[in-house]
Amino acid sequence: MSAGLGTEVVSVINKLQDVFTAVGSSASQIDLPQICVLGSQSSGKSSVLENIVGRDFLPRGTGIVTRRPLVLQLIHRAATSQANVNGADNTDKAANQDEWGEFLHLPGEKFYDFNKIRAEIVRDTEAKTGKNAGISPLPINLRIFSPNVLTLTLVDLPGLTKVPVGDQPKDIEKQIKDMLLKYISKPSCIVLAVTAANTDLANSDGLKLAREVDPEGTRTIGVLTKVDLMDVGTDVVDILAGRVIPLRLGYVPVVNRGQRDIETNKTISAALDYERSYFENHPSYKGKAQYCGTPFLARKLNMILMHHIRATLPDIKARISQQLQKYSAELVTLGGPLGDGNSSNIVLSIITEFTSEFRAAIDGNTNDLSLNE
Ligand code: GDP
Ligand code: NA
Ligand code: MG
Repeated sequence: MSAGLGTEVVSVINKLQDVFTAVGSSASQIDLPQICVLGSQSSGKSSVLENIVGRDFLPRGTGIVTRRPLVLQLIHRAATSQANVNGADNTDKAANQDEWGEFLHLPGEKFYDFNKIRAEIVRDTEAKTGKNAGISPLPINLRIFSPNVLTLTLVDLPGLTKVPVGDQPKDIEKQIKDMLLKYISKPSCIVLAVTAANTDLANSDGLKLAREVDPEGTRTIGVLTKVDLMDVGTDVVDILAGRVIPLRLGYVPVVNRGQRDIETNKTISAALDYERSYFENHPSYKGKAQYCGTPFLARKLNMILMHHIRATLPDIKARISQQLQKYSAELVTLGGPLGDGNSSNIVLSIITEFTSEFRAAIDGNTNDLSLNE
């Protein structure tokens, strides 16, 4: 399947997602495909996402760091400056004009400094949840534009936890579970079930919850983190071979930065180099190193996302035209489209514009999609 085609379809879907978020709850019933991370607290979910993006910008560390959902749209765009051609270097640059982030709650403001993106995530998290470990289902919406990412929508979620700390309510386990279920129950959600390889897979909270919403395993990918922290002489080979808890879409083992690496500001490019050499040189993995690590996970994700979008297109189209009919009907009761410029009018025109763009992209690509299978 050609990467360019995927980028085009997904970018239209990303636009729709923004519109639906902006127009609020009734329109957001249209479920667009996205990838969610699911797992226990500190299993490495934020680290996995950060490695996929290839930039340092997510709050991560020991304890409950991710306390609100972060809806992250990665948008691939061609490099425009020479400075960006050397991808290995640019993780270390403070400001690169080809890569920036934008928050939905701060329209028009471009963040070129990824440390400031992290600071804004922390600031807005604390503004809505307080400083003392509180959680909130209110999402933060962030777009990252870069020549060095695949076009994907990813959602970073708080981790599953059982014991309340700080300002957390007694029923924290249930509250987090309910929040996660809202995202992962949608058939359009691809679940990255993250489990630390140095814990027992049979006790993986992420895999258990994923199985509740996806019993057939058609949209769950297993990610095994902390492979580097396993006891000497043990490995994940049996898990990868599907001999422990088989998953139809399989497992990908990764090595993220450890807490000490975070404290000493180890760069992502250094971490990815380390990850590659780890798998290439490890006696258990060197024969299959091309199926290990973050770059393989990113490629696998993009491919699965494309298949998934194709499968859910008829449903998305039907839902959009239902919504459109509903809005048109409401509009008529409000005095029709030539009325006094009320907000429904604006909403309708935005949705109409994106819907036709969406239809054009989908209809135009239907043949290509099947040809590229
Ligand atoms: P989250 O709570 O699931 O989002 O987990 P984080 O990404 O915040 O990571 C929790 C802690 O585990 C941090 O200190 C990370 O540095 C560490 N960590 C995550 N993945 C790995 C890994 O693959 N290897 C090692 N050694 N540490 C990891
Ligand atoms: Na954490
Ligand atoms: Mg996290």
